[in-house]
Amino acid sequence: MAPMDDGLTAMQLMLGAPTLEAARAEASPEILPLLTETAYALVKRTAAEADHASDNSPEAWAAVFDELARRSRAASVALYSPGDEGRLQTATDEVVAWLRAQRLLGPDRLVLEIGCGIGRFLRALSPEVEAIVGLDVSGVMCAEARARTTGLDNVVVLQTPGRDLSMIDDASVDLVLAVDSYPYLVGAGLAEAHVKESARVLAPGGDLVIFNWSYVEQPTKQAEAFERAAQKAGLAPEHLGKHALRTWDGLAFTARRL
Ligand SMILES: C[S@@+](CC[C@H](N)C(=O)[O-])C[C@H]1O[C@@H](n2cnc3c(N)ncnc32)[C@H](O)[C@@H]1O
Repeated sequence: MAPMDDGLTAMQLMLGAPTLEAARAEASPEILPLLTETAYALVKRTAAEADHASDNSPEAWAAVFDELARRSRAASVALYSPGDEGRLQTATDEVVAWLRAQRLLGPDRLVLEIGCGIGRFLRALSPEVEAIVGLDVSGVMCAEARARTTGLDNVVVLQTPGRDLSMIDDASVDLVLAVDSYPYLVGAGLAEAHVKESARVLAPGGDLVIFNWSYVEQPTKQAEAFERAAQKAGLAPEHLGKHALRTWDGLAFTARRL
């Protein structure tokens, strides 16, 4: 695996330490500038909010993400930023470069993003694809995603109840992308159904790409669960939890509709 980015290291130190001083005591000199009081407060509050959701339903997650997005746009979608838009852009660019290298983008590709959050991928992918639709359960996230993609006429943002992809037609999409949204679907018991729905909306030859299946299961269990769901849905699994990136530790799960 490639060396971890400083933002990711800083996030992990702050999450694991009981105080900012304790985090700073463990940090190497190049990480220290990232361990500010603001970043520490943001990371701890964001993690606590996400941990203490009263239930795992899409409605409960919508409320949590509404609140997180009001607090910090960048940290609400990626704690490893931590709260820094520049670092978030670097992480976004790396995912886009990986998708490009996998030949999953192109001017004739129609893309669906499940859990688009603040729309960082909608904006970044807009010039690289024919059109992209972002779905999210959080109204605040959808509003921010629309604001970030104003003027991009190949981007559409839709608020979804989060239980299926019924807003999307059969065989109408070339790439279904989900970055850090499956952990919430797994929690809600909706992950397998969403893989099945992804198979329905994908055109033949289309791809499903998920970064992070679960935050709590071991990687081998995640790989088994994804492989089972993909095969059940008639998709051919390819990557089963690949460490693909340097800026964060997201695992890539991919499958193709043959
Ligand atoms: C950690 S954020 C990631 C956002 C975005 N993919 C990114 O990486 O910037 C997770 C997003 O998934 C959304 N989400 C959670 N459950 C969902 C569901 N059932 N359907 C659609 N979106 C969901 C949340 O509202 C939140 O915006």
